Amino acid sequence: MNVLLTGGAGYIGSHVTRALAEAGHRCVVVDNLCKGHATAVSEAELVVADVADGRAMRAAMSDHAIDTVIHLAAFIEAAESVAEPDKYFRNNTLIGLMLLDAMREAGVGRMVFSSTAAVYGQPERMPIDEDDRLDPINPYGASKLCVEWMLRAYAQAYKMGFISLRYFNVAGADPAGDIGEDHRPETHLIPLVLQVAMGKHEQMSIFGDDYETDDGTCVRDYIHVCDLADAHVLAAERIGRGCADAYNLGNGAGFSVRQVIETARQVTGSKIPAEVGPRRPGDPPRLIASSQRAMDGLGWRPKRAELSTIIEHAWAWHNGHPDGYAD
Ligand code: UFG
Repeated sequence: MNVLLTGGAGYIGSHVTRALAEAGHRCVVVDNLCKGHATAVSEAELVVADVADGRAMRAAMSDHAIDTVIHLAAFIEAAESVAEPDKYFRNNTLIGLMLLDAMREAGVGRMVFSSTAAVYGQPERMPIDEDDRLDPINPYGASKLCVEWMLRAYAQAYKMGFISLRYFNVAGADPAGDIGEDHRPETHLIPLVLQVAMGKHEQMSIFGDDYETDDGTCVRDYIHVCDLADAHVLAAERIGRGCADAYNLGNGAGFSVRQVIETARQVTGSKIPAEVGPRRPGDPPRLIASSQRAMDGLGWRPKRAELSTIIEHAWAWHNGHPDGYAD
């Protein structure tokens, strides 16, 4: 396949690009580098452009005979989306629509879409499966769900094919050690915990310990970024005309914030001081995936499911790149 990845210079995009290249597919990354890093792109041509730039997108698709788009470019912070919803609906939803139209104009009919567990909101039942109620509690989840709905309509009306992958909490890094997570500012739990272990911050702040969970802190389902990347390859290879399917991607096991910090203490040998602060707006108490549909439908099998492995690989990346990417 000839695959165009939007946001391919980002954390997840760089790992997906590598997995595609290793599977023998030709990749072109389109990224405006507002969050991504040029040096994270090694197995693909990098086109520095905005997804909102229809002319640039159409040219990138036709110049490279693209048959499949993987749309990863997005803003991803639930708490920020509560404060600045306009940013999320513009960048994630509106620009998603513009990309779909650029694809139609360029005659590209297949897309894998980066969706999120945040489309479910605060589900009652665990593990969550794809038929559970879609009821986001923050604009980030809503901005992504709007795109999923557009995909359904476009699949039916225009006979395009889509697979939405609903990521749970992605962490870790390629064990090769040359690509990893470098968000600026960093807001995610595992990289922040490791930055405390490295002495970059004095302590962790635990965002609330009065949730209805075993130890009162939020529970999440952590998935290795390389397992997630493998699912993109399988999805891209299987998209059928007129389909708009959605698959959860997680490991089916929940870990609390306190358990993550404890595992990181064991992996790093560092004390990692932590104190409890207030809740963060937009955080559901528990999110645990059933990924049975991805296993049955895509033949996906996670190969690095242990939380300690995920944290070890993240730790190797952070140690090797204490300041992240050079750019
Ligand atoms: N947390 C802390 N302290 C911190 C950072 C995070 O206690 O300094 C807590 C959060 O409150 C949350 C948990 O750690 O309970 C995980 O937080 P992350 O920010 O790492 O991840 P989120 O669960 O908020 O969000 C991630 C992705 C989203 C995706 C979501 C789906 O960033 O894009 O998972 O579960 F939608």
